[in-house]
Amino acid sequence: MITNETIEQIKDRVVKKNNNLKRKLQKRLINVSEVTNNFGETLTRVDGDIPIDLPINKGDRFLFISYEQTRYTHGIHKYPAKFFPELPRWLIQKYSKESDTVLDPFGGSATTSIEALLHRRNSVSVDVDPFAHFLAKVKTTPLDIEELEIYTNLLIKKITKFKITKNLNKYIPDFPYRDNWFNQEIILELAYIKKCIAALDISEDLRNFFLATFSSIIRSVSNADNNCTRTVIRKRLNKQIYPTMALTKFVENLLLYKSRIEQFNKFISKDIIADIATTSDARDIQYEDESFDFAVTSPPYVNAVDYPRTHQLELYWLELEKGSLTPLKKKHIGTESVSVKDYKNLHLINVEEADKVLKAIFETDKRRAYIAYKFLADMEKNIQEVYRTLKPNGRYAIVIGNNTIKGQNFESWKYLIEIAKRNKFEIETYFGSEIIKHFIKIKRNERINTDWVIVLKK
Ligand SMILES: C[S@@+](CC[C@H](N)C(=O)[O-])C[C@H]1O[C@@H](n2cnc3c(N)ncnc32)[C@H](O)[C@@H]1O
Repeated sequence: MITNETIEQIKDRVVKKNNNLKRKLQKRLINVSEVTNNFGETLTRVDGDIPIDLPINKGDRFLFISYEQTRYTHGIHKYPAKFFPELPRWLIQKYSKESDTVLDPFGGSATTSIEALLHRRNSVSVDVDPFAHFLAKVKTTPLDIEELEIYTNLLIKKITKFKITKNLNKYIPDFPYRDNWFNQEIILELAYIKKCIAALDISEDLRNFFLATFSSIIRSVSNADNNCTRTVIRKRLNKQIYPTMALTKFVENLLLYKSRIEQFNKFISKDIIADIATTSDARDIQYEDESFDFAVTSPPYVNAVDYPRTHQLELYWLELEKGSLTPLKKKHIGTESVSVKDYKNLHLINVEEADKVLKAIFETDKRRAYIAYKFLADMEKNIQEVYRTLKPNGRYAIVIGNNTIKGQNFESWKYLIEIAKRNKFEIETYFGSEIIKHFIKIKRNERINTDWVIVLKK
C-alpha cells in the first residue's frame, strides 16, 4: 500500500523538479562566446537557443549547451542518443518554413517531430523499431486535458490500493529470464499497474500515455543497470529494489509527465500533423518523390547502441515483441547481428579513406569490418532515399559521431560526405558539435567525442 503521506511527498518532488526546470529556463541566455576545450582547440560556445543566423564556416567547431532536454514532451521517457532539442529546432527554423514538411528517417523518440510541431511544421518520423513508434506517437500526441486530469487522479487512487489478486497473472508477460530481471514483488506491482490502466474506460491516446509512463519505470525497478544502453545486471552496483518501488515511481512519473504534456498541449495546433510512419525503413521511405522540404536526422552509430537490447524489458512488458529479438535486430542499421557467410570476405565501399580503415579492421576482426561496411552501405541507401523524397533545393542535415573500431578511427561523417557527393548531393556545410552531456555509456576505448553535422543540398 502507498499512504496519502507518500503521495504528498511524491507531489512535492514533482513540484521541485518542475521548479528546477523553470529556474534553468529563466537563467538561459542566448549567448555566443569563444572557448578552448581540453585539447586546446578553439570552439564557439552557444548557450540555449541557437541563433538562426549563427555564422558557420565549413569545419567550424561548436559547443552547444542544452537547457531543454526535459522540456515539453521531450522529457517523457529515456531514449539513447537522443537529439538535444535546440539542434533540430535551429536546423528546422533555418532550412524550412511554417507549414512545410520535415522528415526524420531515423526518428527514434521523435525529438524532430516535437520541434516541428512546436514550430508549425508538419513532419514524418520514420523508424524500424516498434518501441520507437510507440514512444514517438505518445510524445507527439496532444491529449484532452480534462480527461487527463480526471483519469490521472483515478489511476493514482487505484494504484494506492495495490493488492495481489489471482487475475494479475494475465498481465504478466512471459519472456526470457523474466524472473532474473525482476524481483517477484516488482513483477506483481507492474502487473497491477497494467491491470489498472487496462480497466480504465478512456481514449486510446490517453491509454498509450499511461502505458508510456508505465514503460518509463520498468528499467529503474528491474535488476538491470539503469544507465547502460545494454540491459545488463551488474552485481557490484548493489542496486536497491524495495516493495512499492514500482508503484511510487509510476505515480511520480505520471505527475511529472502530466505536467509536461500540459505544457506541450498549449503550443500545438490541430492543422499541423506529426506522422509516425510505421511501415517505412530509412532505406525504403514509403513516400512519393519530392514529398519533403527538409530532412534532419541522427542515424545510429555503427556498432554503438543495440536498440532492441536496450529496450528489451520495455518491449516485453508492453507486449510489442515476444521471444527472440534477432529478427528486429537485423532490421537495425549498425546491427551486430550478421552472419559468417557475409563477413568471411572483405567488403569495400569505394571511398578511399573508408576502404583503408575497413581493410585495417578486417586484418584483426572480419566480423567488425563487415558491420562497419554494412553500416556505410545502408547509409548510402538512406542518402539515396532522402534525395529522392526531398524537393529540389531541399536540405538534408545528418548529425553523426565518429567512433573507434578495433583501434581504428572510424570517421563516419567524412565517408558520408563522399557517399553523398556521388549520389548527387551538394555539400552545403559541415561543422562539429561537441557533446557536453551524452547519456549513452559505451566502452571507454570506443567513446564518441564530437558529433558532426553535415548539411547536404539537393
Ligand atoms: C540515434 S537514434 C535517433 C534518436 C532521435 N534523433 C531522437 O531524438 O530520439 C537512431 C534511431 O535509428 C533507428 N533505426 C535503426 N535502423 C533503422 C532503419 N533501418 N530505419 C529507420 N530507423 C532505424 C533506431 O531504432 C533509433 O531509434
